[in-house]
Amino acid sequence: MSYRVYKDYLIRKFADFALRYRLRLPAGYVALNAAAYGILPEKCIGLDLFAKYGLYQSSDFEEICDYFEMWEIDPEFARYAKKFFPKAEVQVGDSVDAVLNGKLLRKDYNLVLLDNPYGLYGNNSEYCEHFELFPPLLNYLDDKSVIAINVIYDIEVFENSQKRYNKLFNSDWEKRRNVFYNTNVPKRVPARFFLDFYQTKFTEWGWNVPNCFFTARQNFTGYVVVEIEKKFENLKI
Ligand SMILES: C[S@@+](CC[C@H](N)C(=O)[O-])C[C@H]1O[C@@H](n2cnc3c(N)ncnc32)[C@H](O)[C@@H]1O
Repeated sequence: MSYRVYKDYLIRKFADFALRYRLRLPAGYVALNAAAYGILPEKCIGLDLFAKYGLYQSSDFEEICDYFEMWEIDPEFARYAKKFFPKAEVQVGDSVDAVLNGKLLRKDYNLVLLDNPYGLYGNNSEYCEHFELFPPLLNYLDDKSVIAINVIYDIEVFENSQKRYNKLFNSDWEKRRNVFYNTNVPKRVPARFFLDFYQTKFTEWGWNVPNCFFTARQNFTGYVVVEIEKKFENLKI
């Protein structure tokens, strides 16, 4: 096991131990809040499009799912994911391409985790955050589903935290962000902005949004969690 994976593995083991004494990681809070809102599906069919080896966020979702599909583009990470989550369906490949070109394994996911990379990614920087996934991802969902979407709400704090990885906010990212959100997005965005935006968008895409909430993850990023329900006129009969 490489040093980095080993370190993350030990951190997760420590977290699992601490969890028994009520510590929770962010995705654990998402699940807990979703349960409190009464929106967790009875039988969770989970989809994780950016899994890495799953030790941080994915693990908390995998635990509550009857079926859990993990996509990871890096074969080395995927190999570890298979090892850590033997019951999960681990797919090696480009999940955005899979969504855009009909390669996901099912059409009835009802719990989705989008722990996408920051900024632009893909061989030719063709992807940005989770933007390309919408609305095509909706074609793979059950009539009633919950999606946790990772968003960045404070770019300046993000930049300070990422300096050592050389991953900074650049003008291309800013442009793509402004186009997706259809406004000049300020560097610090109130959670309410994201909630209003996704609520409006999902409605435009043909879904009702009975519930949505924000769960902060760190001091610059968080999850927008939406419960969506297919509008009556779009229901499969
Ligand atoms: C933020 S990490 C995910 C962390 C993970 N959810 C966890 O719980 O530890 C993002 C991951 O997405 C992967 N990735 C990037 N582009 C991808 C793509 N197009 N398809 C699938 N995975 C991708 C990266 O290799 C990276 O491992």
